[in-house]
Amino acid sequence: MFTVKNNLFFEQKEEVVIVGLYDRPIKFEGELAKLDEAMTGELTELVKEGDISAKKHEAAMIPALGRIPVKRLLFIGLGKEKQADFHEMKEAIGTAVQQMKKLKLASAAVALDSFVCENISVDDAAHAFSEAFGLASYEFKGYKQPSNDPEQSIEQIAVYTKANAEEVKAALHVGYVLSQGTNSARTLVNTPANMLTASGMADHAKKLAETYGFEVEILEKEEMEKLGMGAFLAVNKGSVEPPKMIALKYQPQEEWKDVLGLVGKGITFDTGGYSIKPKDGLVGMKMDMGGAAAVLGAMEIIGELKPDQNVVAVIPSTDNMVSGEAFKPDDVITSMSGKTIEVLNTDAEGRLVLADAMTYAKYHKADYLVDVATLTGGVVVALGTDKTGAMTNNDAFFEEVLDASKEAGEFVWQLPLTEKDKQRIRNSKIADLNNSPGREGHAIMGGGFVGEFAEDTPWVHLDIAGTADMNKAGALGPAGATGVMARTLALLAMRRTK
Ligand code: BES
Ligand code: ZN
Ligand code: ZN
Repeated sequence: MFTVKNNLFFEQKEEVVIVGLYDRPIKFEGELAKLDEAMTGELTELVKEGDISAKKHEAAMIPALGRIPVKRLLFIGLGKEKQADFHEMKEAIGTAVQQMKKLKLASAAVALDSFVCENISVDDAAHAFSEAFGLASYEFKGYKQPSNDPEQSIEQIAVYTKANAEEVKAALHVGYVLSQGTNSARTLVNTPANMLTASGMADHAKKLAETYGFEVEILEKEEMEKLGMGAFLAVNKGSVEPPKMIALKYQPQEEWKDVLGLVGKGITFDTGGYSIKPKDGLVGMKMDMGGAAAVLGAMEIIGELKPDQNVVAVIPSTDNMVSGEAFKPDDVITSMSGKTIEVLNTDAEGRLVLADAMTYAKYHKADYLVDVATLTGGVVVALGTDKTGAMTNNDAFFEEVLDASKEAGEFVWQLPLTEKDKQRIRNSKIADLNNSPGREGHAIMGGGFVGEFAEDTPWVHLDIAGTADMNKAGALGPAGATGVMARTLALLAMRRTK
């Protein structure tokens, strides 16, 4: 995908060269001055006239008209140097990629050093470029019949820099791997539920295991019955699809200790069950496995980048359907932990499947737990569609997750979990817990319920109901699944090893 070259970028015959432009008094310095000279001062003129802008989020495609061997220059405005920000740079690069897509360009080059400033090292720039490029060029192929207007994707990128080529290559690799793991998560979420069942999820996990040498274990219904996973199995009762409890183990260390557990809600479709959703609420519920997708995307990144951190990933996967066999409100079920649960709402199914998945992750000796789930509509009301809601039983561990999310550029905001909240979750006349204590603070009720199964293990809950998909295209990709939290989880594993 990427080749790194040390020559002068505008002396090559590329279809387009992407150039970063900071908003400084003298726009063209160093190599850019040479470029301006080769363009007979035309670029300085175009800046004066406003055709090229160094302002943030501006992108200008300028034809070189034979003055230099390169065909076009694509200037990306990066704003003031002092305010340069890694994540904003990714957005700016994404905007440029969208322009290239429109022109159906097949190859591109980047003048990497033009993105470097005091806050942004050449490694940062390389990472930002490859990650943004990978994310922005994502497309979900879909199922339309072939059209006469074939898609053109950019397959070759030449990166020009004066810096050490090996170092730059390594940074490009990290960014690209992060984008590809995120894109895999996106594809899982975008795939309709009739094409991605629990068995399909298990197949995906098996493929990851084969590629990266993970240990894989897929529990079938009979084995789950033996282990007493009554909460997970209750949700599957209305389904004709066999449930799958998926576990992947990555063990770079000699001993299976200090294990990070990643648990992802894998409801392939959520009808709500007998507490059925209204018809408008059903559309889009193929995304109810966004947590599982994030965990699998993170495992892909972990498999590629090989951090020195033991990880167990656990994914409970089923759909939540209605039938004569389905579980019902008023049922009391017994989870693997032994805790009994009064079902008040079959649409609060995520916390039920996660309950047994958390216990199962502990059974696999997880010492830290992060669960990721499209758990509640409540979190969308509370935080909107650009913030993932978080809860924890351990502030120090939460800080680690928060740091990873900041490094990934994925916004996470903590919600409180008080003793009173826990009382509401434990309020049932006939069972240890109830699965739906009412509308008030219901994002907290959902997370808090999952936390009951973490017990004393340090735990962070990430509710991605608002962030797992978006209804509008952005610089870094089309509308639809975002793959949110794949990068945060992978970076958490990467950073824990330090
Ligand atoms: N999968 C939904 C949550 C959801 C809602 C995800 C909207 C994405 C967008 C979850 O299983 C659910 O139905 N939660 C209920 C819980 C309630 C019954 C306590 C909800 O949020 O309304
Ligand atoms: Zn539901
Ligand atoms: Zn759900």
